[in-house]
Amino acid sequence: MPRIAYVNGRYVAHRDAQVHVEDRGYQFADGVYEVCEVARGHIMDMTGHLDRLGRSLRELSIDWPLNRAALQIIMGEVVRRNHVRNGLVYLQVTRGVAPRDHVFPGPGVRPALVVTAKRTDPALATKRAEAGLSVITVPENRWERVDIKTVGLLPNVLARQKAKLAGAQEAWFVDPDGTVKEGAATNAWIVTKDGVLVTRPAESGILRGITRTTLFAVAKSLGLTIEERGFSVDEAKAAREAFITAATTVVMPVVSIDGEPVANGHPGSVALSLRAAFFDVAEKRPA
Ligand code: PDD
Repeated sequence: MPRIAYVNGRYVAHRDAQVHVEDRGYQFADGVYEVCEVARGHIMDMTGHLDRLGRSLRELSIDWPLNRAALQIIMGEVVRRNHVRNGLVYLQVTRGVAPRDHVFPGPGVRPALVVTAKRTDPALATKRAEAGLSVITVPENRWERVDIKTVGLLPNVLARQKAKLAGAQEAWFVDPDGTVKEGAATNAWIVTKDGVLVTRPAESGILRGITRTTLFAVAKSLGLTIEERGFSVDEAKAAREAFITAATTVVMPVVSIDGEPVANGHPGSVALSLRAAFFDVAEKRPA
């Protein structure tokens, strides 16, 4: 059992080592890490690992939590304090602690840094190497399982941030064939010229939003028809209306897509009636 961990500037007992509940690593997988081997008291390939850490940080626009030299010292210190001669040293940097919001927090939020170390048994590893090991194959699906409401939200975070930088509030993920999947944290809808609501089937590559599901009943209460099918970005731009749904937004009209107005560029009446009727139809439990 490792005894000491480094957490945001302090060496603490491993059993008491904690990060905040609103750490973005915990909430969005918005962080990066490295694992270095420790062999005979030496940290192996430190340069390569720190180079890759630098690249990972840069790609995600996360600042270095400390400079390289300081990180090297801390890694060495954690290895030494845990008396690890052979083992692993683990380093994780997240974008830091901020109230939950997909978009990046402001510059006041510093990256969070955790370093831990643990021992491994070289004799056991040698024995394993002598026996060899088996592998299985799995389909490459890192990460297609967007139907699961997992906290692995880094692509969603990056999409939202991109939207913010473009002066928008949401980003729609689009398949290579041009069909819209869903938003970074919302489901996507359009209203056709005939007043039919269209949304992608929840069976194919989206999260089955609870708001989306409730909207079926809301639409029914207003006498509106829903068609579950894919729609393209072009169809959305030419639609009578577009809107998004989520617990955070309920029904929110979309007035522009990639800088082009949807219809007359104003919130549509169907979306606004759905929004108004939502509270009446959705399940209500006193808090
Ligand atoms: N997001 N699609 C994605 C990727 C989402 O993250 C969400 C919700 C939805 C809509 O689901 P629901 O109607 O159940 O809220 C669709 C939440 C609100 C969030 O991450 O903040």
